[in-house]
Amino acid sequence: MADMLKLFVNGEEVEVESGKNLIDAIGAVGIEIPHLCYHPALGADGNCRMCLVGIEDGRPPLVPACKTPAMEGMRVQLDTEKIKKIQRDVMELELINHPVDCPICDQAGECKLQDYYMEHDLQESRMRVAQVKKSKNLDFGCGVVHDQERCVLCGRCVRFTRQITGTGELGIVNRTDTARVNIFPGRPLNNRYALNVVDLCPVGAMTSRDFRFSQRVWFLKKDEGICHGCAKGCNIHIDHNREKYKDDVIYRYRARHNDLVNGYFICDEGRMSYKSENENRLTEATVKGDLVAVSEAVHTIRQELSEAKKPLILVSPNSSLEQQWAVKRLATLSGVECFGYSDAYIKEGDGDDYLIRDDKSANRKGLELIEIETSKQRFEEALAECDLLVNFDNDLFRFDANEEMKAVVAGKKVIAISTHANYLTDNGTVVLPVASYSEYGGCVVNEDGILQAFSPVVRKNEELIDVLEVTRMLGGDVSDSGQAWSGIRSAVPELAEVQPDLIPAEGLQLSVSEEAHVSA
Ligand code: SF4
Ligand code: SF4
Ligand code: FES
Repeated sequence: MADMLKLFVNGEEVEVESGKNLIDAIGAVGIEIPHLCYHPALGADGNCRMCLVGIEDGRPPLVPACKTPAMEGMRVQLDTEKIKKIQRDVMELELINHPVDCPICDQAGECKLQDYYMEHDLQESRMRVAQVKKSKNLDFGCGVVHDQERCVLCGRCVRFTRQITGTGELGIVNRTDTARVNIFPGRPLNNRYALNVVDLCPVGAMTSRDFRFSQRVWFLKKDEGICHGCAKGCNIHIDHNREKYKDDVIYRYRARHNDLVNGYFICDEGRMSYKSENENRLTEATVKGDLVAVSEAVHTIRQELSEAKKPLILVSPNSSLEQQWAVKRLATLSGVECFGYSDAYIKEGDGDDYLIRDDKSANRKGLELIEIETSKQRFEEALAECDLLVNFDNDLFRFDANEEMKAVVAGKKVIAISTHANYLTDNGTVVLPVASYSEYGGCVVNEDGILQAFSPVVRKNEELIDVLEVTRMLGGDVSDSGQAWSGIRSAVPELAEVQPDLIPAEGLQLSVSEEAHVSA
């Protein structure tokens, strides 16, 4: 546990973590010091002067809180008339050339400039000279759109491309009121994390072409989730909304801070993967191409399973631990071999040394822990012999067309239990749609051995059953996640002590990995 120290804020004693600057230390106990240029992942730049505070110890009258470490016994003043006046003055300066186009700005509702104006400024503009005009709607590449007039020149976006991605595509050119953020001519943003500048920008100067104008942010329900785009399991906000007469739809993913997993950022591919939760989803159960009720599809699967001479069960590396366990139990009770073969989820060489992983599944570690066979050779042998393949949401040909294996599968009877349409659902005798990860809760273990829990977030008008429920309907003995966990605890020594409700928000490190911790 971090060392604590006591200091006074506006005369009130508070206990804060040592080793932090005043913004972070005091912010952690719920007292916000307004700031624009400081971000914990990027450090203190000290350029906006929005965070000036008073310290009663003979220092200069005001100091920037972002550059001032919290010290034992420090007496910090945030609410004197003098400080309030400085904050109003800084706001006035920021707004001299600002277009104040909040009604048409995507950031309205989550804009620091707007918030601080309401908290600290609230005065009519005294400017009677024409505003400096700058460029709007600039395409910076990677889906980032820049509005120079809204920019407060905090430099966060510029520092992100220099300090985090190391690509340096952005710079601040010119000086004083003609200063502006820009790309170098003909050199747009070109990195796989570029959209983080939209999250980082404290105002509406960096927007996402994908999200802008699609929703007012105050209509969005902002829930927490885990990205299933790769084996890193980055923490995300899932922002979704059910508009009148419509379905619950996800409008964006944003990075959610977790030092143990992804720091403050996520990759662009993961950010945009919200689309696949909305699109190309399977919604109808079919038997031999005819639409049927879910109960009839399940009944037919039961029948097929009991009639097959040599059935084979396949489970997904993207399924939760609870689902994987339930599928394994169903296989054991039915005397059927269970596989987690899923080489097609691996994009060799695609990962990097930051967040992105080659493995595009969220819970391959789960298969390992639960001891579900994943070897290609063993799977191919079993596939060749089987007469029925029951597939629990494993996208067998995801990034690997594997024509040879496809030809073998084509000769088998296939039951496709799936979230999305794919080769197996196109060729399934029975096709059963199931809920995807934003619609159910469970646990996953990332590549670094960090166990994380997530909850159901999206509630579709037509709710789909999840894989665990399907196994129960097929005669499995796992009726819910509580029961799954009592089985998992007794079978998996590494998870013997785990209480899923008590998994810390940042996750539980099961095994030590040097790559696990992200510094930004
Ligand atoms: S675009 Fe946004 S993040 Fe970049 S300098 Fe301007 S205000 Fe700051
Ligand atoms: S690095 Fe992986 S888990 Fe993280 S956001 Fe990207 S795809 Fe998702
Ligand atoms: S946050 Fe301290 S000067 Fe900008």
